[in-house]
Amino acid sequence: MSLAIRPTTMEDAAAVAAVHRATAAIPGGIARRPDEITDAYIARILGEALADGVGLVAVAEGGVVIGEIHAVRIPVRLFSHVLSDLTVAVHPDWRGRGVGSALFQALFAAARAMDPAIVRVELNAGAGNAGALRLYERLGFRVEGRLERRGRFPDGTFEDDIAMGLILSPSPLRGRV
Ligand SMILES: CC(C)(COP(=O)(O)OP(=O)(O)OC[C@H]1O[C@@H](n2cnc3c(N)ncnc32)[C@H](O)[C@@H]1OP(=O)(O)O)[C@@H](O)C(=O)NCCC(=O)NCCS
Repeated sequence: MSLAIRPTTMEDAAAVAAVHRATAAIPGGIARRPDEITDAYIARILGEALADGVGLVAVAEGGVVIGEIHAVRIPVRLFSHVLSDLTVAVHPDWRGRGVGSALFQALFAAARAMDPAIVRVELNAGAGNAGALRLYERLGFRVEGRLERRGRFPDGTFEDDIAMGLILSPSPLRGRV
């Protein structure tokens, strides 16, 4: 399979929206439902990633966008080494072929190259999203906490969120002798 990972541009908006809508159509993955994947939402996430974050698309043969990942630097100096608000989506037809892993590895490389460099990457995943949690642990994320009843489904049932973090490179501990 031919696969390329490249930075997202605003021209990718329609293609990224299509991937997110196809992903959102299957419950239990990304948080938003298809009607919440508005053009304004897509423009915002792409714009924020371009401004001070990482936005990447996975492109298959013929230039078709089959996956997307984005995350942003927290705009507070104390947390400015942290890449947060991460969302990843791979088109349902393309899952289980390494696209998600390739997107993450490219995101880690891009995050290290940011100025100032990113040290920590964080994300939340639904406790019921076992496949995604397994993938994140394999990539090096560690479970850091559980946010009880953070999600509520249309039928009224709740789902906990799992908070995960990954340290990209060692940093000196502050306040230790
Ligand atoms: C999670 C996701 C990005 C992984 O992308 P991918 O290209 O399938 O990932 P890879 O091929 O690199 O890795 C495969 C691993 O992904 C995980 N995975 C999660 N959902 C999967 C699915 N529907 N199909 C295949 N693998 C899936 C599994 O851990 C799998 O490993 P396994 O074969 O040991 O079970 C993708 O499945 C997706 O878009 N899911 C729906 C949206 C979502 O859950 N986003 C994350 C919200 S926190």
